[in-house]
Amino acid sequence: MDKLSKLKSHGAWVGRWTFILAATGSAVGLGNIWGFPYKAGTNGGGAFVLIYLLCILAIGIPIMISEIIIGRRSGNSPINAMRLVARDSNSSSGWQIVGWSGILAGILILSFYSVIAGICFNYIFIAASSTGSISSPDQFAEVISSPINLILWHTLFMILTALIVSAGVKNGIGRMVKILMPLLGFIMIFMVFYSVLNGDFNKAMKFLFEPDFSNVTSDTFLQAMGQAFFSLSLGMGSIMAYGAYMPKDQKVVNTSFTVASLDSLVAILAGLAIFPIIFAFNLEPNSGPGLVFVSMLSAFNQMEFGFVIGPLFFILLSIAALSSSISLLEPGVAFLAEEDILSRKRAAEILSFFIWILGLGSALSFNLWADFNLMPGRNFLDSMDFLANQILLPFGGMLIAIFVGWFMNKNLISDELGNANPLLIRIWRFFVKFIAPLSVALIFYNAIFG
Ligand code: TRP
Repeated sequence: MDKLSKLKSHGAWVGRWTFILAATGSAVGLGNIWGFPYKAGTNGGGAFVLIYLLCILAIGIPIMISEIIIGRRSGNSPINAMRLVARDSNSSSGWQIVGWSGILAGILILSFYSVIAGICFNYIFIAASSTGSISSPDQFAEVISSPINLILWHTLFMILTALIVSAGVKNGIGRMVKILMPLLGFIMIFMVFYSVLNGDFNKAMKFLFEPDFSNVTSDTFLQAMGQAFFSLSLGMGSIMAYGAYMPKDQKVVNTSFTVASLDSLVAILAGLAIFPIIFAFNLEPNSGPGLVFVSMLSAFNQMEFGFVIGPLFFILLSIAALSSSISLLEPGVAFLAEEDILSRKRAAEILSFFIWILGLGSALSFNLWADFNLMPGRNFLDSMDFLANQILLPFGGMLIAIFVGWFMNKNLISDELGNANPLLIRIWRFFVKFIAPLSVALIFYNAIFG
C-alpha cells in the first residue's frame, strides 16, 4: 500500500487562509512576547536583535519553506514524512531521526512553555484586581514563589492543550486564530502607543536598534539563533506537521514570508511596548523571564482602564500561547495516531501527562528548586530551554536544510514549489544548500570551541 494514501487520516485544510492562520498561530506566542524581549534584555539589546533578524532571514525562512515542502509532499506526521520523502528520493530512512528529535524537542519545550503560559493565566486575574498598591516586581516574585499556584495553572494549561489536540487540531483553531490573533496585534499596537506617550521611548529605541557589538560572544549568536528557531516554530516538525494539511494550490514561498514577517513584527512590537516602560520605571532590562509580566503590569497599574485592558492583554496572550502549544504536541500525537499505536485522544492524554510531569521541574525551578542546577549554571527550566532551543531545534533545522538542499528529489521539490518565481527559487536553493546549514554549523562550532 502506498503510505501516501494515509493522507485520508488527516484530511486537508480547507481555504487558503487556514494554513497561514494556523502557522502564524503556531509561530506567534510566548516566544515573541515573553521570550524575545527578555532574551534581548539579558543579551544587551541591539546586537542580539540584529543577529536574531539575520537568523530569521538567512536560516529561518529557507528552513520554513523546506519544512512545508516535506510536510505537504508526504501528508504525514514528521517522522513518517521524513521517512517517506527520503524513500521517494532514494535516500536513507535514517532521515526520520529529524522527526524523533523533533518529538523530543516538542516535549521539552511544552513542559516549560506550559508553566509560563500558566503564569499568563494567573496574570489575567492579577491584572483585573490590581490596585496598584503593590509594585509589580514584588507581585511577580510573589506569583512565582508558590509552587502550588504555578502547578495549578500549569495543569490547567496542559489540560486545555490536550483537549484541543485530541479533538484534532484542524477543528477549531482556524476560527479562534482568525479573530483573536488580529485582536492581539491590535492590543500590541495600542501598548506601543501607550509606551511612546508614557515611557522612555528614545532609550528603548537605542537599546533595541543601536547594536553594540562589544559584548557579543559566541553565546549571543547561539541564543539569537535558538530564539529565531523557537519563534518561527522551526526545527521540530510543527510547521512540517501543519504543512501536511496545506492545500496543494497554496504558494509555499509567499506563505513562508508572510508567516515569518508577522512573527517578527509581533516580536518587535513586544520589544517596543515593553522597553520604554522598563526604562521609564527604572526597572532592569536584564531581569530575565519576569520582564513582560513586570513591565506590562506596571503599565496597567498606571493606565486608566488598566483593569480592563490588562486582563484582555493576558487573555489574548494566553490564547496565543495555546495556539502555539497545540503545534508542539501535534507531531507526537499525529505520529502515534497515524501508526495506530493509540487513538488520537489517548495519545494526546498520555503525552500530555508525561509533559505535565516534566513541567513540574520547571515550576519548581522558580522556588523550591531555585538553587538546583540540572546542567552547570542552569536551573531546570533553563536546562530544558537550552537543550531544546539551542541544541535540538538548530540541529533538526540543519538536517532539514541538508536533506532538502542535497538529498531530496528535485522533481518533488519543483512539484511543491509550483510556478514560484525562478529567481526566488534559485536564491532559496542557495540558502538551504549552503548558507543555512553552514551558519548553524558555524554557530555550533563557535559555541563549543570558540
Ligand atoms: N513559536 C512559538 C512561540 O514563539 C512556540 C512554538 C510552537 C515552537 N511550536 C514550536 C517553538 C515548535 C519551537 C518549535 O511561542
